[in-house]
Amino acid sequence: MKKVGILTGGGDCPGLNPVIRAVVRYAIQENYQVVGIKNGWKGLIENDTVELNLQSVSGILSKGGTILGTSRTNPYKKEDDLKKAKENFKKLGLEALIVVGGEDTLGVANKLHKEGFNVVAAPKTIDNDLNCTDVTFGFDTAINIVTEAIDRLHTTAESHHRIMVVEVMGRHAGWIALESGIAGGADVILIPEVPIDIEEVCGVIKKRHSRGKTFSIVVVAEGAQFKQGMVTQEEKLDAFGHVRLGGIGQRIGEEIEKRTGYETRVTVLGYIQRGGTPTAFDRVLGTRFGIKAMELVLKKEYGKMTSLAGNKIIAVPLEAAVSELKTVDMELYNIAKIFFG
Ligand code: F6P
Repeated sequence: MKKVGILTGGGDCPGLNPVIRAVVRYAIQENYQVVGIKNGWKGLIENDTVELNLQSVSGILSKGGTILGTSRTNPYKKEDDLKKAKENFKKLGLEALIVVGGEDTLGVANKLHKEGFNVVAAPKTIDNDLNCTDVTFGFDTAINIVTEAIDRLHTTAESHHRIMVVEVMGRHAGWIALESGIAGGADVILIPEVPIDIEEVCGVIKKRHSRGKTFSIVVVAEGAQFKQGMVTQEEKLDAFGHVRLGGIGQRIGEEIEKRTGYETRVTVLGYIQRGGTPTAFDRVLGTRFGIKAMELVLKKEYGKMTSLAGNKIIAVPLEAAVSELKTVDMELYNIAKIFFG
């Protein structure tokens, strides 16, 4: 029997289970055996696998996270790990491996493909920063969670006449801050793509006060930077060379309170943004990506990534998708700016 493998890597994300379910359902219909590789690339290095059947994917459509588990393991970090991963790929007898991940996980998939392994990819990240697709699944769920949080913070901001700073995810790209900020009616949105000018931020808040508004909502992406650089929690790097971000909200809050004299509070939404059940949009997108990924396997179109282009699901070269990040559309940021102040 022909075998197809599937793994999920990087940060978990609502919509991963719909992808797994779609791959398994379609693959079984086409008489494939499906090998689930546990915990991202770690599972391939350790040959930690599970057979996926109809029973294993029953009832997972609405569940967040991933039934396969995930990790930020990079097999290209250690020569021995890479050797094991390649040996296991062959030993498992996979016709192809479907890799579901963001920039780091798919970067590894692309390298393996270039070394002759049959790989197909599906883009995942709540940050929405993957190139060559209009959107990644997980993003819609994240912005809905953040928008609801902003709505809720409005009531306290208004009642207590406070400035509310909301720190959201977004390492290199400010998509979450921007779209949830627009949807939630934020008064200032700070993103990694635009260096923070704290004088300007305080100016916007003071302007609101001068027209009788006694509260403001500031949404800041964790990767937003003062001219001096990113605010990080610790210096340690992960396997893909990233620092752990966090703390920019607190810094902004302190500066605003100091410079304007208005009482300021900070809320860090953190992993709440990645958790729980996917929206209907993400369930549908995940399902479509899963079906397309399996279709690419059937057609032997390796080295491709599934992508949403307008209303259609297409396949794009994986190489192009991982070559650069998709940062925010400045046209959209300029729309948001009209509402600042
Ligand atoms: O997957 C992207 C992301 O949500 C980033 O915005 C964030 O920096 C990162 O995950 C943090 O994830 P973890 O702490 O799980 O590595």
